[in-house]
This record gives sequence, C-alpha cells and structure tokens, in this order.
Amino acid sequence: MKEYVIIIDFGSQYSQLIARRLREACVYSEVRSPKICAEELKELAPSGIILSGGPASLTYQHAPKCDPEIFKLGKPILGICYGMQLIADYFKGKVSKSTLREYGRAELFIDNHKDLFFGMDKQIITWMSHEDKVNKLPLGFEQIAHTKNSKIAAFANKELKIYGVQFHPEVAHTPKGKQILKNFLFRICKCRGLWNMRSFIKSAVSEIKESVRNGKVVCGLSGGVDSSVCAVLLNHAIGSNAHPIFVDNGLLRYNEVEQIQKIFSKHFQIKILYLNQRKLFLEKLKNIVNPESKRKIIGREFIRVFDAEAKKIKNVEFLAQGTLYPDVIESCSVFGGPSAVIKSHHNVGGLPKKMRLKLIEPLKYLFKDEVRALGRELGIPESIVGRHPFPGPGLAIRIIGSITEKKLKILRSADRIFIDEIQQAGLYKEIWQAFAVLLPVKSVGVMGDERTYECTIALRAVTSIDGMTADWARMPSEILAKISNRIINEIKGVNRVVYDISSKPPSTIEWE
Ligand code: XMP
Repeated sequence: MKEYVIIIDFGSQYSQLIARRLREACVYSEVRSPKICAEELKELAPSGIILSGGPASLTYQHAPKCDPEIFKLGKPILGICYGMQLIADYFKGKVSKSTLREYGRAELFIDNHKDLFFGMDKQIITWMSHEDKVNKLPLGFEQIAHTKNSKIAAFANKELKIYGVQFHPEVAHTPKGKQILKNFLFRICKCRGLWNMRSFIKSAVSEIKESVRNGKVVCGLSGGVDSSVCAVLLNHAIGSNAHPIFVDNGLLRYNEVEQIQKIFSKHFQIKILYLNQRKLFLEKLKNIVNPESKRKIIGREFIRVFDAEAKKIKNVEFLAQGTLYPDVIESCSVFGGPSAVIKSHHNVGGLPKKMRLKLIEPLKYLFKDEVRALGRELGIPESIVGRHPFPGPGLAIRIIGSITEKKLKILRSADRIFIDEIQQAGLYKEIWQAFAVLLPVKSVGVMGDERTYECTIALRAVTSIDGMTADWARMPSEILAKISNRIINEIKGVNRVVYDISSKPPSTIEWE
C-alpha cells in the first residue's frame, strides 16, 4: 500500500520543512494547496494529513480554510499553529487574539503522554510564533499540553485521530519536534517508514510507464543535475522511447559538453541528440549588453531549436522536465500573486507550454539534495550529481557586457582554475555555488617589467540552502591567493582578480 502524508499549506514559511521532516522519517509527503477538496484527498488515500501554519488569522474575512469535509474522511489529522486553530474553529472551539503573544522559545508542559507526546519528558522546549490562540476546547477534544501563556497548547480527539499543536514541531528550535512528528506518523497514522530512494525509483518508473505507455518523450538535457537525473530515470522507465535533446549553446563550462556525451553514451548507453548551435547563439547575442535581453534571447533560441528538433521525432506526445519541488512551491503560493521579476529564469525545465506536449515532471516533489540522492541511486557519477547549480543562460550572464568567443574562452579558463582549486582544497561540497565572472573593467598592472592593461575576473562563492538567500563563502585566504595567482599567470588577458563579498539579499548570486 502506498504510504504518504499530505501537507495542506496555509502559507507557512515552514511547509516545505514539514515535508522534509516526514521524508527524513522515511514517509513520503507532498504539499498541496488548501483548495484541494475532500473528494480528491479521498482518492489520493494518504495515511494522514497535516494542516500547516500560516500568516493569516481566523479573524480575517478571507482567512484561508480547507474543505470542511476533510474532517469527515476518517484520516488522522495534525494541525500545526494556524492548522490547529482551523480544527478548533471547525469543531466549535474558540480561537481569539491573545493579549500575550508568544514568539520564540516556550516551555511546553505535557499533560498527556499517550501517542503524540509518547516518550517525551514532562517539559520540553518548543518554538512558538502566534498571536491567536485556542481558548476554548473544541467539542470532543481534550487538552494534552499547555504553556505558561496558553492553557491549550495542544489538543487531541483520539477517537477521530485529530490533533493540534500550537507550536512548530518541524523547526530545529523544537528539539524534540522530530519525535513528535514521528509519533504522529508511526503511532497515529500507522505508517511504517518504507520510503527511500529505491522505492521512489520503483514508483516513479511505473508511473512514467503507465502514463506514457508506447508513446515517445522528449526531454532537454543541460548537463545539470536535474535534467540528467530526469533523463536517466526516463531511460529506466521507457528506454529508447525517451529522447534526450542536448542543445549546445556555446555558453557551457570547460569540457562540459564532452563530459555529458561521455557519461550518457558510454556510461549509460543512452543516445542523446546533440545539437551544436554555438554559432547561432553567439550570433544572436552579438553586441547584447542588457542582462534581461541576454536571458530572453537565450531562452527564445533554446525553445526554437528544441522545438524544431522535437518535431522531427515522429509521434512525440510528451515532454519531460526536471522541475523540482521548490519551483512548484514558489509558483503556487497561497497568498502571493507573482512576485516581482528580478531575473527571467531560463532553464531546460522551463520549456514552453506552447509546445502542446503533455508534461511529465517526475522530480516535482523532490528537493535538490533528494534529486542528488536519486541520481546516486541511479548510478549517475558524482561529477554530475554533486555539481553546483548552473543557470540556463550559462556563461552569458557571467560575462558582464557583450559576449565574444574570446571572452568566453577567458572565463572558461578562469572558472576551471577556480573550481579545480576549490575541489583540491576539499571545499567544493560545502560551497553551494562557485564561479568566475568576467568584468568589463580594465585596469593597469605590471608583469615582468611591462605595463599591462587588462581584464578583471571576479570570483563568486556562496553558501546557501536553496539559493533563495545566500552568504559569501569565507574562503581561506591562502586558497584565494593561490587561485588569484594561477588565474593571472595562466590566463592571457587577465591581470586582476577580486573576490565578491556580497550576500543575497541585497545582491543576487549571479551578477546578471
Ligand atoms: P540569483 O542570481 O537569482 O540565482 O540569486 C539564484 C540561483 O538560481 C540560479 N539561476 C538560474 N538557474 N536558470 C536557471 O536554471 C536561470 O535563468 C537562472 N538564473 C539564476 C543561480 O545560478 C543560482 O543558483
């Protein structure tokens, strides 16, 4: 029996984290919008449901609510913070604004140690973030924990298997939170913790087989982790009916093309359609300086080339994309309209809806590190699965100003030295992303007895969890010294190297 938990997201910044925690406990989970109806949920047949926290208050006129029929499905439910208040509201408890807001650390006194708090001490540290609170128990519920400020900090209706906690068990600041979630999964939902990458592959493969049958699938291959994993997974499922298309736009890193070809054809014996379009892209990018124009041109040309090639394959019905979970979440926020466009992202995952192919997104419920684990399980070499993220527009957005073959060559060489040295120093894994940027700034230098007037390379290395926020990596100065030395000595045309010490926000990771 498929065992998984649905998290209904009321806009909490922690919804993804809940999903993480459940998967760490080997139970697969998916986050869904509050719009999901009970009928749909019934069909999905989850082992349990979690109602997340959220920024709204039930006192708001348009406070998000879930389909009330969900409470009648007979499924175990855990409401967290706002989720708890929703349960209270539905079962005729009382939720109101508290005069004493609780933000941050709070001591929780456990009054009932059965199931949800099984195995816990009498007192545990929790993390709270709420203004509203439940101050009258809903009908049929009992209070199972309290804090100094909230008499009803957790409640339960054991018969209905519905629970609510005012605090956030998913955050690290609730040290026993993982255990509480495990209690919900294993004691209340009766999950067994069977989920792992191998089981994921098995079910993904059979789902792909089932939806594709004898049809053909095209997928874009960029050499990045996501598209590579997607292509190999497809190959596992439908063999030669999957057609990976690799558009070489000439904006890739050193040796990248050769590496991809080698891995796919030799290692996996997967035939890839390789399209050398370097000239075309360079031509279209000639004299283009504006970052957004570069991005748009590259995106447009990629789609054109890809589409034309896909059309040549007879009877293609499907397009597979390596879309990841954070992309899905970002695009279905409960409250937000589209956020301001900082950069128009382009990647192989962003192929056009216009192509009129049916979409397959086998990675859409996975996080980046899970995709990496999946890739390893599929036997994809570390040089691909462990690789830093690389943007769809490639080196074009790392050459500030116009793009030429000569500049690409300089940048590729600098980038290669930078990455080589980081790898040798054993720092590659702890850095989220590292790369070189070629600046249109010439400065005076002296080499031997000669005056030079040459370009500047900026080094960018950041630490991050998801690329949404980032900090500049505190690289040891002796390694920076070595990198700078090598770049200036080995690359003709560069006489200065600088290190970028800006965090995101307010800067972004890429320079364009
Ligand atoms: P920024 O520069 O917005 O980048 O801080 C955040 C992360 O996204 C990557 N990035 C892209 N990835 N297509 C992609 O697939 C793009 O157009 C794109 N632009 C930026 C960037 O490398 C970093 O990891």
